[in-house]
Amino acid sequence: MTLSTDPYKGVRDFYPEDKRIQQYIFDTWKSVVERYGYDQYDASTLEPSELYEAKSGQEIVDNETYSFIDRGNRRVTLRPEMTPTVARMVAKKKRELAFPLRWYSIPNLFRYERPQRGRLREHWQLNVDLFGDTGIDGDAELIAIGYDILLAFGLTKQDFTIRINDRALIKELFERENISGDTAYQLQKLIDKKNKIPDFDDQAQALLGRQFNFDLSPNEQIEKLIERLDSKGITNVKFSSDLMRGFDYYTGTVFEFFDNHPDNNRSLFGGGRYDNLLDIFGSDRVSAVGFGAGDVGMRNVLETYNLLPQQTRSKPAVGICLVDEEAREELISASKLLRDSTIIVSVNTTLKNPRNLIEWSQKSGYDFTILIGEREASEKIYTIRNNKTKISSSIISELVPSWVKQEWRKDDNS
Ligand code: HAM
Repeated sequence: MTLSTDPYKGVRDFYPEDKRIQQYIFDTWKSVVERYGYDQYDASTLEPSELYEAKSGQEIVDNETYSFIDRGNRRVTLRPEMTPTVARMVAKKKRELAFPLRWYSIPNLFRYERPQRGRLREHWQLNVDLFGDTGIDGDAELIAIGYDILLAFGLTKQDFTIRINDRALIKELFERENISGDTAYQLQKLIDKKNKIPDFDDQAQALLGRQFNFDLSPNEQIEKLIERLDSKGITNVKFSSDLMRGFDYYTGTVFEFFDNHPDNNRSLFGGGRYDNLLDIFGSDRVSAVGFGAGDVGMRNVLETYNLLPQQTRSKPAVGICLVDEEAREELISASKLLRDSTIIVSVNTTLKNPRNLIEWSQKSGYDFTILIGEREASEKIYTIRNNKTKISSSIISELVPSWVKQEWRKDDNS
């Protein structure tokens, strides 16, 4: 029997080029959030299942997680999101931490989903969370970070819409309409799906036994937030009364960043205010607001708008090849010279013919090829091939590092 070379359903293998793209996404995320003073934290993929049952929602745990029983009879879940974990970590060290507290992480998360464009069973998610800042300033900061991230990737504000709502509005509406308990819970889930189902009104009527008039206008909180964002130049904001967000723990403002392109009709970022999640750990109340942004949607967007950088390596890479056994010493010193200048050097001493060596360097994705033979060793002049333009140049050996760097920068801007 032979085994399949495919990965498990709904997860990805990261070949080097994919990994470099993912790393570029992570680096861009990090550079923006660190500018706002957020510190990186991390935790294990494994969590006790109870952590999610309390506030993420029972439905999520039952249907959307990878959960199992370990050899010690403990119920374990592969984390489907990071928010309960970060709440646990903050609750544990609450006395030692200084609030407002700004933390971020980029965990991989597992959800038992039906794999489709933009939705997989494993994804990496930037989590940015601010604890201990109660007001609109906190909400506005998180939204501004999301906005800056998309601009840092090269999008413009016309490319996306920030949808916002307030869970408190839904709560008030339910109170006004005397909707409570399980019915309220079911209706909330239904509103969450409103845009994906054709017969929302009928389903709501079936649930309530009467017509449901879903009509909300923004409250003062939302209006103030929109104003605050406006003063930061963030104007692509829209009040969306049907924006619910799936998790039970949100208590106030909720928001999602939507790509306006029809190919990516999904939220890129999602988050909101969760002021009493820490209660489940017996901790004093700590207000919190945060969001998550997935790598899958991010890459789709960059591809759609053609915004992936030409070079996903942060440094030039050279394939350096031996063509005469006698030139080995020269190959060693040339490699050292380049590496000492922080250039990536990959050596090939298979002594294949020059055509094969160039093909190897090109196929490997290196930016340049240098063949080292007897002539190069005696004259100290190298012929460097730019693998992108396919043009070769003769350069004095000690000038090679600076030449390579200059040429590489030129290519990135072309
Ligand atoms: P979420 O809306 O479930 O929120 O996920 C946030 C983002 O993660 C989504 O907008 C999407 O980009 C990405 N994402 C989610 N599920 C998948 C999937 N199956 N495949 C690919 N990408 C996915 C949360 O998880 C909240 N815990 C975020 C948060 C942080 N709220 C407050 N702080």
